[in-house]
Amino acid sequence: MTDKEKILDGIKSRCLNCTACPLCETRTNVVFGRGNIDADILFIGEAPGEKEDLSGEPFVGAAGKLLDKFLVAVGLSENDYYIANIIKCRPPKNRDPKPEEEDACIGFLKEQLMAIKPKIIVCLGRISAKRIIKEDFKITEEHGKWFKKGNFLITAVFHPAAILRDPRRKQAELEDFEKIAEMKNKISDII
Ligand code: URA
Repeated sequence: MTDKEKILDGIKSRCLNCTACPLCETRTNVVFGRGNIDADILFIGEAPGEKEDLSGEPFVGAAGKLLDKFLVAVGLSENDYYIANIIKCRPPKNRDPKPEEEDACIGFLKEQLMAIKPKIIVCLGRISAKRIIKEDFKITEEHGKWFKKGNFLITAVFHPAAILRDPRRKQAELEDFEKIAEMKNKISDII
């Protein structure tokens, strides 16, 4: 096992036993994250839905299936990314996470970020972008723009669930994913 794997295993076992907020009482599984821990891209979603709560894996439901289609369309494979959420336990009836739940959980994501050290962070949706990029982030105006924070290049795209609700946003989403794939290739050409 590599040092990185050991670190992430340690974070995961603390996360699986977490009782820091009331979501621990209603969860079936903690949804820690999945993917390549050495990847350049980290996708950050909002919170697990029903399918994720049942399986313990992020983005395995309808939104995850649509996300996969955008990834495939721009030539990104499972090996190119790691994916996790701001909140690791499902909010009842998929309501928005409460600020105090985000505060209780965000430390795990920060630890994942510091261990994985991706070059690119992609926020999936408004809630993730507000937490990671800036409090007043406007997803309709600012999706697809790039922000630099420390060593990270960060962007946000519409949440795939928002595309399912409003398919008119599909083209904008595809263009944003194309920019992400381009940025990944640009970075690996330089480094
Ligand atoms: N939506 C999210 O934001 N995260 C998931 O894991 C699933 C759906």
